Amino acid sequence: MVLKSSSPARQLRTTGAHSRLALCCLVAALLTAGACGARKRLKGFGESARESAVSQANVVQRYRELYAKYGSQLTDVKKRAAPCAAKGQSSDMELELSYLRLRDTQPNMVWEWSPNHGLSTIFILAALADNGHGHLIAFDENQNWHDSEACIADLLENRFRFVFGDVHETFYEIEKEVGMPDYLFLDSWHSHLMGVWYTTEVLSRFTKHTYVSLHDVHNPTFWGDDRDDPSFRDRRDLKVWPSWMATEEGMTVSDWLLYRADACGVYTTAQSRWPSTYDAMNTMRTIYMYKDVREEGLHPEIQENSTLFFELLCESNSSEASH
Ligand SMILES: C[S@@+](CC[C@H](N)C(=O)[O-])C[C@H]1O[C@@H](n2cnc3c(N)ncnc32)[C@H](O)[C@@H]1O
Repeated sequence: MVLKSSSPARQLRTTGAHSRLALCCLVAALLTAGACGARKRLKGFGESARESAVSQANVVQRYRELYAKYGSQLTDVKKRAAPCAAKGQSSDMELELSYLRLRDTQPNMVWEWSPNHGLSTIFILAALADNGHGHLIAFDENQNWHDSEACIADLLENRFRFVFGDVHETFYEIEKEVGMPDYLFLDSWHSHLMGVWYTTEVLSRFTKHTYVSLHDVHNPTFWGDDRDDPSFRDRRDLKVWPSWMATEEGMTVSDWLLYRADACGVYTTAQSRWPSTYDAMNTMRTIYMYKDVREEGLHPEIQENSTLFFELLCESNSSEASH
């Protein structure tokens, strides 16, 4: 409701606040409930708040199994990555989860948008090599991935291809050449417009079951890559966008997911969204990976662990959520 006495600026602020609130409620509903419509197929990643608590327990349980199974190989990957990790922009936990999820799901074709200095690339490529099959195509408009080349030199042959250029253009060329991947790792330009583009132009084109991860969804230090406004990019204003809210791109994708009947397996272990899951994961990591997760690791200063994981075109027998 807008009061008659309100100034136009106040009205605008009020309307903006209402829209933000509505969007927040929508996204909160999605993240609490899991993807709508996937309920029948899901075993564990449930729809109600009560089931959701169970699903978070299932996330921890699933990763407990994966850490137990692949933990020693993962430790080797972390040693491999250490000399090339300085400029990486992901937290230790999400790099580990990427590796474990790729081991678990055994994809044949992974696309990475985008590697930048290549820390995430090391974990993806090592997982494919440890699987014994699978190819990675990495897209970026810079060539910084070479900073990590020394750490993956033995893994590149016949397994890796780098595509240089703006992914808005290169995507169409590569899709035409090789078709769509079965695992899409998203960590590129973080903005509403980017999210709108790839949900409508890219995610909507998949015709088979696909695993997706999207970085920087639950990152309270960051709002988006819009360079025109420093308060978006450099320091998130927590009074306007509180820490539990997804980032601008994260909200765009969450909103799109909410209406996808064929999406499932939505989860995050982000500290700002599910602190109890985050703590449980860290307790587990002290068993399988470290004595103290806050002091050890490649990037102890990055703790946001902001990735949202989900699946498209789910089938009960192949879905991660059905494990
Ligand atoms: C946040 S960094 C990736 C960090 C990396 N995944 C890691 O874990 O260290 C984002 C990357 O996206 C790339 N990027 C942004 N917009 C792009 C576009 N339109 N096409 C291709 N690459 C893009 C940037 O050049 C940058 O290297």
